[in-house]
Amino acid sequence: MGQVHARAYARLRQHYPEAPLRPRLVAVADTATDDRLTSAIDIFGFQDAHSDWRDLIARDDIDAVSVTGPNFIHRDVAVAAAEAGKHLWVEKPAGRNAAETRAIRDAVRASGVQSAAGFNYRNAPAVELARQLIADGRLGRINHVLIRLLADYAAHPEGALTWRFKTEWSGSGVLGDLASHGVDLARYVIGEITALACDDATFIAHRPQASMAASHFSRGTGGELGEVENEDYIAALLRFEGGSRGILESSRASVGEQCTYGIEVHGERGALSWDFRRMGELQLCTDQDYQNASYMTRYVTPGDGEFGRFQPASGLAMGYDDLKVVEAYHLVQSIATGQPHGATVADALVAAEIIEAMVESARSRRWVTLDEFVRTK
Ligand SMILES: NC(=O)c1ccc[n+]([C@@H]2O[C@H](COP(=O)([O-])OP(=O)(O)OC[C@H]3O[C@@H](n4cnc5c(N)ncnc54)[C@H](O)[C@@H]3O)[C@@H](O)[C@H]2O)c1
Repeated sequence: MGQVHARAYARLRQHYPEAPLRPRLVAVADTATDDRLTSAIDIFGFQDAHSDWRDLIARDDIDAVSVTGPNFIHRDVAVAAAEAGKHLWVEKPAGRNAAETRAIRDAVRASGVQSAAGFNYRNAPAVELARQLIADGRLGRINHVLIRLLADYAAHPEGALTWRFKTEWSGSGVLGDLASHGVDLARYVIGEITALACDDATFIAHRPQASMAASHFSRGTGGELGEVENEDYIAALLRFEGGSRGILESSRASVGEQCTYGIEVHGERGALSWDFRRMGELQLCTDQDYQNASYMTRYVTPGDGEFGRFQPASGLAMGYDDLKVVEAYHLVQSIATGQPHGATVADALVAAEIIEAMVESARSRRWVTLDEFVRTK
């Protein structure tokens, strides 16, 4: 993710020539002992590299910091950066739990810096279009919604026991990793969640031990097994303000699923459906009768969200990295205007509180209302 952020900063002016600020890649920090730091300089063009992030924060020639390490360093890095007056781009889930996310939000608020949170899927032009169509009432009242984020990165039993599977390093499992994106999509497209009931499961209880530098695509090599400490799967029933119902399902261990991320919305008069793997298409079922209505494919086009910044005409594909360029643009807009643009650490905090509510619901096997958990004010 550090590489994705670096690419996004580097490409910002190519897509947004009028961007009010021009990022310069000054320094990078990573504890890895392989060639990661030298390639950050050679390939990505950073001026300097540090093995301790504190040395990076201590520099006075850095204005903004991307927090793209494992979840257990998010709070310490982000709070130190904000306290040093540096703007922040923090990856989701922005800490291991809601308390850590709240500490980040509070530090940002106290120091008056700007922030961006890594909820990239809301930047997809088709998601922006879906949100607009719903806000314009084209689907009528929203009855029910299905949000799914399924992946197979943890489906192999020999998938390495990386930081993602340990509570000390990751906090939750698929909840923070993928379901947090689903929570943000639900909030962005439909509205606030008021209550939920959640179930969870861990399908693979032990995995081969791995080093901190192993990625979630690494395989173990038949070494000693260690315990998986967080969930592979969750399914939650949701209630929204205004009465809409929803289902959020998320898994990191589903054979056959790669980036199966999407949202289906059913309103009283119409429906829509979006699948990240066909990012530029919105399936739309509108302006017909209540029965026997069909979906059509609406390709995004310049004018839908930020599509026109990346492609000149419908049918041309945007990619995942482009969503991060949009996020970088939102950050520099926020810094230049002093007003938040795009998802911020405040959104990360609401998502973290909803995740905390899911953890509690799964533990106690009961419905929980978000009033018990959302303390974002
Ligand atoms: N927004 C998204 O779609 C998205 C996608 C992937 C990951 N993420 C998030 O990005 C973050 C990083 O995920 P990743 O997949 O890049 O992880 P990764 O394990 O591939 O990379 C983490 C990097 O951090 C380094 N690191 C570990 N401890 C460190 C420390 N103490 N100081 C400095 N560097 C340290 C590691 O050496 C490694 O290079 C996570 O919070 C993850 O949830 C977000």
